[in-house]
Amino acid sequence: MTNARDWQGTVGKSWAQEWQRTDTSFGELTPHLLATIAAEPGDVIVDIGCGAGELSIAVAQTRLQASVTGVDISDDLVATARTRSALPNVCFLQADASQWGPQSERPDLYISRHGVMFFPDPPAAFANLAKVAAPDARVVFSCFRKPSENVWATSLAALLPPTAPAATERFAPGPFAFADPDHIRLCMAGWRDLAFTPVDFAYVAGAGEDPVGEAMALFRRIGPAASALRNLGDAERQDVEQRLLELVKAHLVDGRVSFPAAAWLVSATSDYRNG
Ligand SMILES: C[S@@+](CC[C@H](N)C(=O)[O-])C[C@H]1O[C@@H](n2cnc3c(N)ncnc32)[C@H](O)[C@@H]1O
Repeated sequence: MTNARDWQGTVGKSWAQEWQRTDTSFGELTPHLLATIAAEPGDVIVDIGCGAGELSIAVAQTRLQASVTGVDISDDLVATARTRSALPNVCFLQADASQWGPQSERPDLYISRHGVMFFPDPPAAFANLAKVAAPDARVVFSCFRKPSENVWATSLAALLPPTAPAATERFAPGPFAFADPDHIRLCMAGWRDLAFTPVDFAYVAGAGEDPVGEAMALFRRIGPAASALRNLGDAERQDVEQRLLELVKAHLVDGRVSFPAAAWLVSATSDYRNG
């Protein structure tokens, strides 16, 4: 489980410092998401949970007539995103997207790369997003499919000490909270024409001159290994680090460390009628 407090604290700080590595990890998914977004109309675009802003900036660069607002709950990530672009048609805003509303024009297109699975009350959040949007607004986002289809997640879980049983609340936030399309339908009450496209991609943990070092640096700061390592004593940490290194080396192929990963691209239309 990763909640709003985590994103506003340690987790958000780590993502802000590691944005090059997290962008690399999504590098094979992003073109699929951008191609889906490119097929959608929309001039007032909001990127939900924009993080360090790669998706917002990429869309703003290709749609110069549009305004793109990246909304994120983490101050650190918004500050990082602001340093990355001087484009006049993109801006970044610190806010809880589940309660956000526009200052002026209503959005006609929401986009998100893995930023919509962390709302404490997703049906209320998606109802709000529909309510504050233009009639028939569209949404396009990516999210992980189930852990068993994401080898990076099962491989890491296998070498970490057992954790507390997964949260049982119906809408517990987390990276796999939107793995099940039926659950997404429940969360997106008030949205119609839901479409799910599966995308299999390589989650690139390390590339460049030192792919093994890059992957170790990523896993030490981001994701399940990072939170486990933070809480282990010295001996256990060394043991996990050693096994992590073996895992990473085993996944080094053609100069990069990568793991099979699986996502949904989800699109839908707002059913909300303003007024
Ligand atoms: C997995 S990260 C993805 C970040 C970014 N979209 C990317 O692709 O690099 C999830 C993002 O959602 C943001 N987030 C979580 N809950 C949020 C909320 N209630 N409102 C706005 N942003 C939120 C986090 O701060 C984080 O930046």
